[in-house]
Amino acid sequence: MTARDTAAGTELATRLVVAGDAGVAEAARVLAAGGMVAFPTETVYGLGADAGNGEAIARLYAAKGRPTFNPLIAHVASATAARKLARFNTAAERLAAAFWPGPLTLVLPKAADCPVAALATAGLDSIAVRLPQHAVAQALLRAFGGPVVAPSANRSGHVSPTTAAHVLADLGGRIDLIVDGGATPLGLESTIVACLGESLGESLGEPGLLRPGGVPRAAIEQVLGFPLAAATAACGQAAPRAPGMFGSHYAPRTRLRLDARAVGGREALLAFGPRLAQGAAAAVKILNLSARGDLIEAAANLFSHLRALDSAGADAIAVMPIPHHGLGEAINDRLRRAATG
Ligand code: TXA
Ligand code: MG
Repeated sequence: MTARDTAAGTELATRLVVAGDAGVAEAARVLAAGGMVAFPTETVYGLGADAGNGEAIARLYAAKGRPTFNPLIAHVASATAARKLARFNTAAERLAAAFWPGPLTLVLPKAADCPVAALATAGLDSIAVRLPQHAVAQALLRAFGGPVVAPSANRSGHVSPTTAAHVLADLGGRIDLIVDGGATPLGLESTIVACLGESLGESLGEPGLLRPGGVPRAAIEQVLGFPLAAATAACGQAAPRAPGMFGSHYAPRTRLRLDARAVGGREALLAFGPRLAQGAAAAVKILNLSARGDLIEAAANLFSHLRALDSAGADAIAVMPIPHHGLGEAINDRLRRAATG
């Protein structure tokens, strides 16, 4: 990755390779090095990053220009690989058997030892998993050998790309590599179904449609033998607010105090930068999002640090000010939601 900082942000030399053995091998190498690779799936082009690499995922959010950390879909090469990330209830097993590989994403309870970075799931206990059908996507997932998170490869607020040219127009200079595999056959995102039954209790247990997409509702209901629930019933607060947007957020139980310049009694400290807030020595526990003041590193640490401080037994978590530029906007958005939630 040859990166150059410009006034507009970090500029990358985006390379374009043709899908094929050499292109796929190069794409897998870039992913392993923490880079961002756009690749075709049967639905739309995805922008992939190593699902286990929090900083690579933070760079991906920055490249898309997302003002918030929306949870991402983890793409896997096999159903066996999917089972290492999430727990499947009966409905999920049936849907996976019927529609994988293919344009169906399942939102499932995260496995206890799920290797996907907390930032990719926005700190949630659930994870979206998809086994794509496209030959290039499958080859890349096998060559990389691990889960790849991939939102649609467009700038935030733009439409999903169905050709490499769309990706280049939207993300040229912001990502490392584009694998050109021609136009995507479906041109419509995957259908997302939540199967959270076992983790959220009976009333929230019905499989629910979170986003219509490549697999029609009727086909899913035929396999299940009963109608899909409304998203609210399936996911509680995870109901869509707008197509493709979900209002579910990780919120700590401990009260958050934002823009803290000093630490009060019985408070834990979520720090940022090299100089700690006043009175930090007396904090119940201190975790620094980034001691060197790097917003990419801070984003990668955000949800795991919040969880760790939430269980520290403090009366409140004091959060030092975070600059509002770059990924700082999304970090501050999440902190504000966590503080009022
Ligand atoms: O067809 C597709 O699904 C494409 C290709 C690249 O695979 N990907 C895609 O990703 O459309 P994206 O990030 O543009 O949309 C994924 C949607 C988001 O709206 C996100 O909120 C939702 O999935 N999502 C992800 N994880 C979730 C979770 N744990 N709970 C609820 N919604 C989730
Ligand atoms: Mg999208």
